Amino acid sequence: MAEEISIDKHLAEEERYRLLLSQLKVLLTKEDNLISNLSNLTAAIKDTLEKVSWVGFYLLDRQKLYLGPFQGKVACTNIEIGKGVCGTSASKRETIIVPDVNNFPGHIFCDSSSKSEIVVPLIKNNSLLGVLDLDSHEYNSFCKMDKKYFYLSYLHFFFPQHQSPGNFLIPILKPIPAAVAIQPSVVFAK
Ligand code: SME
Repeated sequence: MAEEISIDKHLAEEERYRLLLSQLKVLLTKEDNLISNLSNLTAAIKDTLEKVSWVGFYLLDRQKLYLGPFQGKVACTNIEIGKGVCGTSASKRETIIVPDVNNFPGHIFCDSSSKSEIVVPLIKNNSLLGVLDLDSHEYNSFCKMDKKYFYLSYLHFFFPQHQSPGNFLIPILKPIPAAVAIQPSVVFAK
């Protein structure tokens, strides 16, 4: 059966995020293969958020981040921990929002048109699995709201047992489990 994410592009962005999250809950639980789910997640995000020029995963393997499922232009295949926005997010285990990539020391340009970026670390049971990276061709494209919804998508993906169907806000209203609580607060790059 054809899978589909159906979200009206005229809706306000937060409403699109809410719908995306509720549709992802169905889409991502139909398949338990990691690569399939990560691939569909990137496609759904790219399809829903016009501001996103590139979205993809860099997954940890032998102390390096390697390009995983993504949507957008071809990208660098591996990033060292501590390098670029992705490697910095991975080493600090923090979500990093970069309003202007030109001002982030060591930013790695995969697409010269990229202007702003957000990177969310993926952590399960205190282990870093990789990062989710999103780029935009506009400056200042990402804010705390983006962080909140990517974090909720990630929570659902890695900790579905902590989600209550129909209420995506519950994870941020209730104390979150210790394994998840290591995700520190958002950091804005200067
Ligand atoms: N800009 C990232 C590299 C990955 S690409 O944007 C897809 C960084 O500085 O880590």
